Formats: sequence, structure tokens, C-alpha cells
Amino acid sequence: MRPRSLALGLLAASVPLTIGGFALARRMVNNFDMGPTAFEMLGRPIGGAKPAGATAAHLTGSRIMATDDGAVVIDADSGALVRTDRNGKNLAQLAIGREAGLLTYDAQARIAYVADRLGDRIVAVKLDKLDNKLEIAASWKTPAEPYGIALSPDRKTLFVSTIADRTFVAYDVSGTTGKEKWRAALAREPRGIAVSPDGTRAMVAYIATGTVDQIDLVETHRPEHIALSTTAASSRGRFRGGSSDNGDSFARAAFAVTFMGDRQAVTAFQRETPVQIANGSERTGSYGGGFEPPVVHQLAFLGVGGASTPQTIAAIAQHQPRALAWDGVHDALYVAGFGSDSVLQIRNASQVNVAEGLTTVVTSGKSKCGPDGLAIMADGNVLVWCSFTRNVERLDVVDAKGTLATATKLSPGPSLVASAYTDKQHDGMVLFSSADAAVSQRGALACSTCHPDQRADGLSWRIDKHELQTPLLNGRVTGTHPYKWDGGDPTLRDSLASTMKRLGGFGLQKEQTDALASYLEAIPTVRVPTRDATSVARGKKMFDEQLGCKSCHDGAMYTDQERHKLTGTLEQSDTPSLKGLAASAPYYHDGSAATLEALIRDRAAVHGMTEPSKLNDQQVADLTAFLETL
Ligand code: HEC
Ligand code: HEC
Repeated sequence: MRPRSLALGLLAASVPLTIGGFALARRMVNNFDMGPTAFEMLGRPIGGAKPAGATAAHLTGSRIMATDDGAVVIDADSGALVRTDRNGKNLAQLAIGREAGLLTYDAQARIAYVADRLGDRIVAVKLDKLDNKLEIAASWKTPAEPYGIALSPDRKTLFVSTIADRTFVAYDVSGTTGKEKWRAALAREPRGIAVSPDGTRAMVAYIATGTVDQIDLVETHRPEHIALSTTAASSRGRFRGGSSDNGDSFARAAFAVTFMGDRQAVTAFQRETPVQIANGSERTGSYGGGFEPPVVHQLAFLGVGGASTPQTIAAIAQHQPRALAWDGVHDALYVAGFGSDSVLQIRNASQVNVAEGLTTVVTSGKSKCGPDGLAIMADGNVLVWCSFTRNVERLDVVDAKGTLATATKLSPGPSLVASAYTDKQHDGMVLFSSADAAVSQRGALACSTCHPDQRADGLSWRIDKHELQTPLLNGRVTGTHPYKWDGGDPTLRDSLASTMKRLGGFGLQKEQTDALASYLEAIPTVRVPTRDATSVARGKKMFDEQLGCKSCHDGAMYTDQERHKLTGTLEQSDTPSLKGLAASAPYYHDGSAATLEALIRDRAAVHGMTEPSKLNDQQVADLTAFLETL
């Protein structure tokens, strides 16, 4: 019997015990528990006709791309584009913009295309062959907040996903001009994109909807939403009986997607169970109320191209999988765990005999790596981008004969650029993102698990007797105390203390809490979507003068920082800040309003904030437009 099953057997046997006894049983179990299985298919593999062979890397975007003489990386922390040699040494760098999105690389033209997320532009950068320069060849405007990026197989069309304006745009780059060809509307919070090797379709990953999109690039240009399965295809799912098998689970935080041949794509995500049904026993004061970790990590293998999109789920141990790369020659898929500092190799990835390969821990020295980019080199070895230490690590996975090796070897390069954060903020950022047993029980949850990209998973979590929605944190922390929906925590430190208690970790030292707080205060606000200025102005007037919203949502942060008793909600509700509203759906403490329009038309009246029933369609649209630009 495998240790994991033994652990679960013991856990099941201990269910009748009291809560106090449970804590004891739980500790006992932990001694046997080897953690989640490294890789396990939970259903029948999709499989391919035959391994597809070499695929161009430019069909998707990444933080890092291999070049013929090293790599090119875009560091979101400093905002620098860096060109490195084979050993990961800095050869040249160019400022693009902090929080930059992804890049892709046209190896023939030697041009890197980078998404400047805060600057709303694509920057095309030439990598000179003879000297090590980086030179801007062209740049052009995009809709607000470009992030995902990919080239067509012929490298003549560049595709970009934009977050705030929710678009998928095709640009003509046959002459690096960047003329827009067409665009399509996307759902909220899109991230990475990928194009199929035959150029007929693209996939878009989302962090907050539980879906991926498939877009027909040839004819309709229309995205088709594909729900990521939230039911394991086999009874041997992660939730196998016990206390947690009744809660609904939701797919969240899909940052990356990649094709494996024309007929199969793969994406990595989190499966979250915000309300665990505890069969009469429950863990009070925790997120979800159950005993099993409420978040597990998975891959979805998607069969694309037919009338339907069949999918199969696999369980992985990579915490917060943010980056994927497929080596078509060796048919090996690599998955990086941002929170666990590990890279998983999956062999025969596109075939029915898909199997677990080697797992490599990518922490070098004492500092956590925070891998959020992967690239495959020409020889099949792998480059890992460490976002915390800002260095490239070469992961040798191929032996001298050119076949997959039986052990991996890690060679970390030097740190390439200085962080834009202070040391203290940087420590806080690492704490925020890591799966650490100091933060949560067995390191099952990181802050960024529920606050991906410092935003919100869009789920309402069972906490004691309430369901409370995850708030976004970007730019909403300073000047908004008290904290939590009920305003129960007067200061940020109180809020962190109560969060830590819910998470059940063994606790942070005082300096660590200080670091976490200083990072939270440094997170910039989210980008807002583009809206018609006159409509926004009319909405603002309604908000400020006609509807009396400003009496509570006042000041720079749109909150009076007071607690109110509204009808049909919590005993006491802290007036929430309205900053970044467009990125924080659903709304209210319990997520009961799916959209701002729903909130204005229905729930605002229900909660007695105001009496908006007299508003006509134009007025609702104006008020919505204004709220979306806060
Ligand atoms: C399991 C999901 C989850 C995890 C993990 C999580 N949070 Fe939250 N966070 C929430 C929810 C839900 C709320 C609202 C709870 C409430 O109002 O009582 C919240 C509220 C907050 C708030 C208050 C914001 C405000 O405006 O009132 C802060 C700050 C915060 N979280 C920071 C963190 C930090 C730091 C961590 C890691 C130590 C963390 N969260 C981990 C779900 C999570
Ligand atoms: C009496 C004070 C008060 C007034 C007046 C008021 N609000 Fe609120 N507002 C609140 C409180 C408290 C909440 C949180 C309620 C809850 O979550 O259950 C809230 C929640 C919201 C939210 C949801 C925020 C989120 O992140 O989920 C929006 C949007 C909002 N209000 C907009 C408005 C608009 C528009 C008006 C004017 C039509 C208005 N409010 C008037 C106190 C007020």
C-alpha cells in the first residue's frame, strides 16, 4: 500500500473523534503523509496518433525564450528585457516597463516581441547577431493591459491578449509594422495564449473564470469557452471520500496553455473547494471548513479540433503551476510550480502512455526561485526563469546520446537585474507567493493561491458561519482600514494575524509579518478598462450627487472606512473600497452580485444602499462605466 492511501485510511478512521482529538490524529497522519502524488492521470489519456515532433517555440509566449546563443527574458519585477549567454550571464538589457507581460521570439528575424502591460504597447526588439545589443525595431499601441503573446507559425501575425480591455488582437507583423488585422472580445482576466502548429486555432488561459477559450483563427475569429472539468473523470480523484467530497470545486488560476501537436492542448490550474461539506464535523475558523486542503493543483489535457473538446484531468504536486513548455522532439512536457519551486517532467506527454518523469527542485542556495517561465533549448534541455532571484537556471534533462536522462542537473546563472522592490518588500513578496508551512497547514495554501496576481479567485469561502468572497488586494490596502468584509480587523497587522490563524500554519516571525505588510502596501492598483469618457462623466455625477453613493464611498479610496448596517447582509459591513472594481467580480461580501449591472439593478436595492430601481438603461450603463474606471 502506498503511504498516501495509508494516510487517508487513518484519516477516515479518525472521523468520529472530537475536534481536539482530531488535531492529534492529524499530526499522526502527517508522519505518514508523503504529500500529494507527483503526477497521476485521473482519467483516460487523450493520446495522439504519433508524437508530433519539433514545434516552434514562438507559437506561445513565456517569460523566457531560448535563442541560438542563450536566452531572452522579460523580468516583471524590474521591467527589464535581458539577453543572456548560454550560462545565463547578462549580455544586454533594455527597459520595457514594470509588471511587463510575456514575450515571444522570432528566431529567424531575431526579433523579440514583448507585451508592455502598464504601457499598453507591444515592443519589437531586435537581437543583433554580431554584437550583443538589444534595439527597439518598432512599437505600437494595444488595448489596455497586454499580457499574453504568440506568433502564427509563419511568424507574420502576432496575437496578443489584453487583460483590462479583454481583447484578443491579431497584428500584421510581416513588416514589423503592427497593423491590427482583427480583434475578438474575451471574458475577464485572460492570461497566456498559444497557437496550434497548423495555425488554425488559438487557446487562451484565464485565471478567474474556470474556462479556456478556443479561437478559430481562420474563419470566425470567435472564442468558444471551454469549461475546465471540475469533476474528476475517475473515482480516484483528489477528493476521494471523507469530509470533502460534497463541495463544488472550481478551476482557477490557469496562467498558461500550450499545444502538443494540432490535436491536443494542455493547461495547468488550481481546483478550489471553497465550501467543504464536513459530514457533521468541521474545522472551525478555517478557509472552507474542512480537513483536506481546499486547493489542489491539476493539468487539463484537452482534445481540440473535433466537434467537442474532450478533456482529461491529471493531479500534480506543482504548487501554483504558472509555466508550461512542451519539447515535441522528446515528447516531454514541463510544468513549473511557482509556489513549490519545482519543475515536473511528464514523459510521452502527448501519448496514451503518458507517464511521470523527473521532478527537480529549483531552489538554489537559500533563496526561493519562484519559477514562472520555462523554455526548451535546441538540444532539449530546459531553461527556468526564477522570478524571485531574477536568474536563469539551466536544467539538463537530456544525456549525451540526446535522449531523456535518468537524472537532472541544475546550473543556476547569476542574478541579472536589481529588484525594484526594497529588500523588505521583496521578502514579503516571496512570503506572499510561497507554499510554506509557516503560512498555512502543510504549506497547502499560499496567499497568492486565493489572491492570484494579488487579485481574487472570485470565490466565496466558507469561514465559520459565513461565505466570504476573496477581495482583490492591488492598491486597495493602504488607506482602507479596517479590514475584512465585516471590518473586524482594525489594522493590517490584525488582518494578517486573523488570516494566519485561518490558514493554520505554524506562524511568521515579527519581521516576516512586517515584510508581508510592506509588500501588500506596495502592490500597485489594477489597470482599468477603456470606457467612453462622456458616459463615465455622467456616471460620476450620479455617483457623487444624484444617488448619494459618495456619502459612504468617499475619498481617494472610495470608502468612509466606517462600518454600516445594511439590510440583508452581515451584522456590520465595512464600506469596501471600490478601487479596481472591474477586476473584482463578483460583488458583495458573499459574491451575490455577479456583475456591476446586477448589483445596481437588484442587489443595491436589496441591501438598501440606495434606491436604483428608477434608473433607466442609459443611467445603469453610465454608472457601470464610471464604477469600472475606478
Ligand atoms: C483560502 C483563500 C485565501 C488565502 C489562502 C488567503 N486569503 Fe486573504 N482573503 C480571503 C478571503 C475570503 C478574504 C475575506 C475574508 C473576510 O472578510 O473575513 C480575504 C481577505 C484578505 C485581506 C483583507 C482585505 C480587505 O480589504 O479587507 C487581506 C489584507 C488579505 N486577505 C491578505 C492575505 C494574505 C497576506 C494572505 C497570506 C498570508 C492571504 N490573504 C491568504 C481569501 C484568502
Ligand atoms: C450607507 C453606506 C453606503 C452607501 C450610501 C452606498 N454603499 Fe455601496 N457598499 C456599502 C457597504 C457597507 C458595502 C458592502 C456590502 C456587502 O458586501 O454586503 C457596499 C458595497 C458596494 C459595492 C460592492 C463592492 C465589492 O467589492 O464587492 C459596490 C460596487 C457599491 N457598494 C457601490 C455603491 C453605489 C454605486 C452606491 C450608490 C448607488 C453605493 N454603493 C452606496 C456601503 C454603502
